[in-house]
Amino acid sequence: GPTGCPFRPGVDADDGPDPRAQAGDRLTTAQGLRVDDTDHSLKAGPRGPLLMEDHHFREKITHFDHERIPERVVHARGAGAHGTFRSYGNAASVTRAAFLAEADRETDVFVRFSTVLGSRGSADTVRDVRGFATKFYTDEGVFDLVGNNFPVFFIQDAVKFPDIIHAGKPHPDREIPQAQSAHDTFWDFISLHTESTHMAMWAMSDRAIPRSYRTMEGFGVHTFRLQAADGTTSLVKFHWKPVLGVHSLVWEEAQIAQGADPDFHRRDLADAIDAGAFPQWELGLQVMPDTPDETFEGIDLLDPTKIVPEELCPVQRVGIMTLHANPTNYFAETEQVAFHVDHLVRGIHVTNDPLMQGRLFSYLDTQLSRLGGPNFAQLPINRPHAPVDDMLRDGMHQTAVHSGVVAYKPNAIDGDRPTASPDGAFVAVPTRVEGAKVKENPVSFSDHFTQARLFWLSLSPVEQAHEVEAYTFELGKCASDEVRARMLASLARVDDDLARRVAVGLGMQAPEGPEPAEVQPSPALSQKPSEPGRVD
Ligand code: HEM
Repeated sequence: GPTGCPFRPGVDADDGPDPRAQAGDRLTTAQGLRVDDTDHSLKAGPRGPLLMEDHHFREKITHFDHERIPERVVHARGAGAHGTFRSYGNAASVTRAAFLAEADRETDVFVRFSTVLGSRGSADTVRDVRGFATKFYTDEGVFDLVGNNFPVFFIQDAVKFPDIIHAGKPHPDREIPQAQSAHDTFWDFISLHTESTHMAMWAMSDRAIPRSYRTMEGFGVHTFRLQAADGTTSLVKFHWKPVLGVHSLVWEEAQIAQGADPDFHRRDLADAIDAGAFPQWELGLQVMPDTPDETFEGIDLLDPTKIVPEELCPVQRVGIMTLHANPTNYFAETEQVAFHVDHLVRGIHVTNDPLMQGRLFSYLDTQLSRLGGPNFAQLPINRPHAPVDDMLRDGMHQTAVHSGVVAYKPNAIDGDRPTASPDGAFVAVPTRVEGAKVKENPVSFSDHFTQARLFWLSLSPVEQAHEVEAYTFELGKCASDEVRARMLASLARVDDDLARRVAVGLGMQAPEGPEPAEVQPSPALSQKPSEPGRVD
């Protein structure tokens, strides 16, 4: 129990309230000493200097001085909520993960929605990607689905993540996000990395200014490998489908909301939950065969700049998530939560997508400094709801009192406890790995325009007009003619009409249209689909 003394087992744990909950009747110091007066410091006479002896003053000020922890290097601004995920059970045919495989099983979740580039105090309704990170506290351990509201990403290799973020973050001299120079660096990066073209199309679309977190789709982006109880595997993409449908703001609304209510999205989420209008999303899977070339209908499933169109592989719904409780304490929950792509449960495995592989390193690494050492899994919001005996020891901010002398394996002193065995455990899928060590991408990664064009053609005329306006506005803030010209050339490879309309808006020369050979219709657009996998 919270007040029980772990060193003196005889002391009853339930003797009183947990002092850490700050719910007592008397103001005390952190040491439990009752405080006589917290409004005046101890001085040498009413007009005298402060005395070092004032332990309460020093403790109060020192603790305050250290109240802040570093904000996330990306996704610093977020809003969270608690909820429940209920499985339909139809995913049993593709995964052994119990929280998905068993019909009607309920699993606690915590979700954090975020913007990517702004700092903790920035406005909600900016044009940006939104994070959509879900922590499933399953009986088999924690599974995190650390996704976004776009199904693709800017880059194909995680080694480029610092580059894209440095190009997009506020400019280093003035730290003004909307400074012309910041537009120059962002568009300079995008125009030099044609692999970003598809994601940039999403970023300039209405998807980048959601009406509400409740009306956003979510995507796991990468292809995952699922394994069923019989050992069969499939390649899968995760989707969240909002029950309220997908809705966006228009740019003018987003601008006004930034001024009138910078907390527009977090307020909407919290208010809806308070009012009992609990937001819901269905979890869906696109299931594709686990073939040696890891492609589907000519689409490379390891390329995070590519989607698999739902026409080719339908999204099959496998469960529903309901968010029904707001956090009690923003810091303890929304700020201290630590998501990680590598928090997996058996039946859900990573693939060799080079962006995903790099993320496997980055999240734990950043959390070691953001959350001050290696023991942040002990923080209440991060604790698994499954039993833990990890044999990890000590470290900064250790709060557990480990008993026993044995913390090594194998051991003959404690009956070789705790046991490690494949039974019920996370066991790697024995996929083949071979190849020369090279810094190279697969050839298929060099198709940068087919799906950007597919996206453009999927938009309604109104959505296309918004896309043109967004490119015109954003590139209009860009001071460098060279960068703007390079972007127009890039847009011309997506669609002539798009490039021409943006050029007119910018008062620039419309670039030459592409040679027909440059934009090949994707096999995915021209072929009859092969049979996707099914859940049942
Ligand atoms: C944070 C998604 C790519 C590094 C986040 C968060 C989300 C997210 C949703 C916020 C988590 C939260 O709410 O606490 C994604 C997606 C990606 C992607 C969907 C691509 C598909 C990357 C890459 C890297 C990276 C390539 C680095 C190589 C980070 C870091 C954080 C973060 C360092 C801060 C984590 C923390 O402080 O706890 N990402 N990300 N991300 N991401 Fe990513």
